[in-house]
Amino acid sequence: MRLFRKTTDVSTDKPLSQELLLESLPRAQERTRPRTEAVRVYVRSGAAPSYRVDILVVGILSGGTSSPAAKAIDKAGKGKLTAVLERGDLAEKFRAAIEGAAKMLARGPGQHAGVALSDFEVPGHSMAWHVQHAARILADGAYHFDPPASINGHSGGPEHGARAIELLIPGKVTHDLELAAARGVAIAEGMALARDLGNLPGNICNPSYMAAAARNLGREFGFEVEVFERAQMETLGMGAALAVGRASAQPCKFIVMHYKRGGASKPIVLIGKGVTFDSGGISLKPGANMDEMKFDMCGAAAVLGTVRAIARMALPVNLVGIVPAVENMPGGNATRPGDVVTSMSGQTIEILNTDAEGRLILADALTYAERFDPSCVIDVATLTGACVIALGHVTSGLMANDESLANELIRSGENTGDRAWRLPMFDEYEEQLKSNFADMSNLGGRPAGAITAGCFLGRFTKAYKWAHLDIAGTNALSGEAKGATGRPVPLLSEFVINRTSAAARGAA
Ligand code: BES
Ligand code: MN
Ligand code: ZN
Repeated sequence: MRLFRKTTDVSTDKPLSQELLLESLPRAQERTRPRTEAVRVYVRSGAAPSYRVDILVVGILSGGTSSPAAKAIDKAGKGKLTAVLERGDLAEKFRAAIEGAAKMLARGPGQHAGVALSDFEVPGHSMAWHVQHAARILADGAYHFDPPASINGHSGGPEHGARAIELLIPGKVTHDLELAAARGVAIAEGMALARDLGNLPGNICNPSYMAAAARNLGREFGFEVEVFERAQMETLGMGAALAVGRASAQPCKFIVMHYKRGGASKPIVLIGKGVTFDSGGISLKPGANMDEMKFDMCGAAAVLGTVRAIARMALPVNLVGIVPAVENMPGGNATRPGDVVTSMSGQTIEILNTDAEGRLILADALTYAERFDPSCVIDVATLTGACVIALGHVTSGLMANDESLANELIRSGENTGDRAWRLPMFDEYEEQLKSNFADMSNLGGRPAGAITAGCFLGRFTKAYKWAHLDIAGTNALSGEAKGATGRPVPLLSEFVINRTSAAARGAA
């Protein structure tokens, strides 16, 4: 279907709006996402695209799901549009409609698409909001995991799907709107990095691979990356983290990324759980679906993805990304249930279950974060099965020692549709972490498992404002749609963007 004459050849390498805006960035030496190219999204004024498109997405919200376009989009989104139309949340409706459109465009044969954004307008939100979120959802919708050539013998993107999308807006195309589109695409690219790392099998994406991915990111965007080996971790006193990686043939890596564009301001520290495979260790997991424990580094992947998104946007902020990367394996040298270790903080831990390993590596990372005198620390982890039981695959668990930080994160989640919900940290829960043989046990028992895990982390966060995101349910899907989601890169990116804009307003 060719609806409009083409005036701009989008298949040539002519710079598009967001590429112009991002041109001042350091040149890429080695791309951290070499296998898949993000779709190009840009903004145009008017009701019709400026070039010939193969698909034009129009009017969905105004006419319910009765129009043919709306029906197709609803079908692509498996009825989600109908569901949210019935619920009546306008912003959710917008997302469901764009998600449906994204799925349709990703599957369809059309190369060039136009999406008439004015038809999707949500009152109370700026046009920049519409553009940023539509760009992000559409670009993320084009994600496709290409297994590396070493697995399938060849490599290359899908033959189908839109490669360039024009967002058609009613008013003028301003710098702000172009920036919003560029930001949306940057966030989608960060999600794509997170999804790629998550989807890679454990025999490829091991701790050394995570370290290499971080180093590549630093090289591509010109920031410093440190990788500590086991000996250095020993010197630092990281007895808790090292206990987890002991029995693996893969060496532990403690990765620190330093993105510095915020002058003398205090950094935001992001910490991601990087267990590249979680067998449970001596407290071995049951066999069913154990393959999904390759996703146990999705917290780390989200930190890399967020750092990439922020670096791509060249945001004026200081951001430290910390990833303790280990593989949790059984073996003759493995940590046993009952072993007592000393964490970097000096607090001792009785390891009652070697499958509660995420909190052990995070404990030392949280202590390490103190040296940056952070404005806040946010850890992201596939921490507990209990969180999946509590919140399902819809909502990430959030815990915090600071009210306004918690609220900021909840708002960022709401704004992006990448939602989180707070769990309490009442003192009574601390009882469950008592040990007869150490300062604490790493096991809180079955009741409130997500909360006691967060309370355990809280014991290492007294020096700063801290929040914890348990993404065990949201990081990946299982079943037919098995794969990493890239969450919570949208939430975290939004949080950093908002902090940066607030700082700019404060300085003005
Ligand atoms: N990585 C798991 C948590 C998990 C479970 C993530 C399911 C995604 C899906 C974590 O290391 C773990 O094993 N947690 C244990 C803790 C328990 C032993 C206290 C759990 O949730 O069962
Ligand atoms: Mn585990
Ligand atoms: Zn784990």
